[in-house]
Amino acid sequence: MPKPRIAVIGAGLMGHGIAQVFGLAGHDVAITDADAPTLASARDRIIANLRDLGDDVTAAERVRTCAGLAEAVADADFIVEAVREDLGVKQKLFAEIERAARPDAILASNTSVIPITAIMGGLAHRARALGTHWWNPPYLVPLVEVIATEWTAPAAIDFVMKLHADIGKTPVHVKKDVPGFVGNRLQHALWREAISLVEHGICDAETVDTVIKAAFGRRLAVLGPLENADLVGTDLTLAIHRTVLPAIDARPGPSPYLENLVTQGKLGMKSGEGFRTWTPQQQAELRARVLRHLKAARGSG
Ligand SMILES: NC(=O)c1ccc[n+]([C@@H]2O[C@H](COP(=O)([O-])OP(=O)(O)OC[C@H]3O[C@@H](n4cnc5c(N)ncnc54)[C@H](O)[C@@H]3O)[C@@H](O)[C@H]2O)c1
Repeated sequence: MPKPRIAVIGAGLMGHGIAQVFGLAGHDVAITDADAPTLASARDRIIANLRDLGDDVTAAERVRTCAGLAEAVADADFIVEAVREDLGVKQKLFAEIERAARPDAILASNTSVIPITAIMGGLAHRARALGTHWWNPPYLVPLVEVIATEWTAPAAIDFVMKLHADIGKTPVHVKKDVPGFVGNRLQHALWREAISLVEHGICDAETVDTVIKAAFGRRLAVLGPLENADLVGTDLTLAIHRTVLPAIDARPGPSPYLENLVTQGKLGMKSGEGFRTWTPQQQAELRARVLRHLKAARGSG
């Protein structure tokens, strides 16, 4: 059986990395982008990543750049978009894809938070549409959330789960199309409490990060919260929740502390200050530290 042919729409941060992973796994990949310079640099960026990771740089030869959408999707079995996070842009794009793609091609969005139902609702054939939510960088973070809508055919989910397992990713099936899917719901539940602790003067931002990195963050990559609850006992977990949950932030919207930072122009690293202040050197060191850690974790299962 030949490997499914892949089309990636959008060659930005996520798109070129997704194309790289499929190419390295032996798939023929067509990639396109509305911005000509971004498309022109896609293969060089893939080659640079492959070289940095010690992977086979000839994998980039399986990634074909296409100037137009129709050419990119024409013979694809699986089409994934990683364009700008904008509902209108994605809806329009999938209408175009549906016109140009084969009727049996499977269509996926890599949106971070937009419900797949909203993106795919206008399609004529919604049974073949779903979400595949990768994490950045796509070639180092294993998870891909495969999100079904109420219309998605079970066969499409099975195909996409197997496709991503076969290229070495860790696909998980998200059965309902809820905002934030699974990963970003969990991540932002933690961020809400992290911000609340600072807002209420319980500790400063650096302390929040130190507590996580030096304590349960050390275990999180090998011990999920529900494994951990079983490890300590559901009875102990219940006792802890009776005491702690009433004190934890349960506000339904963003923190006013966060709103104030944004209003004041404290946008994080891009403005030099957010919850903390950042020199260019500190920013570079942090980025290098994260990359080193993810590379070391790669392949460690
Ligand atoms: N950056 C992340 O950490 C991350 C993680 C997971 C998911 N995502 C999601 O992936 C998607 C892409 O994010 P990114 O960070 O790669 O963005 P990006 O800005 O780096 O890349 C988006 C690319 O899409 C192109 N584009 C825009 N409209 C287009 C169109 N109609 N046709 C073809 N190309 C078009 C742009 O020219 C750009 O190169 C977004 O939906 C984002 O939410 C991002």
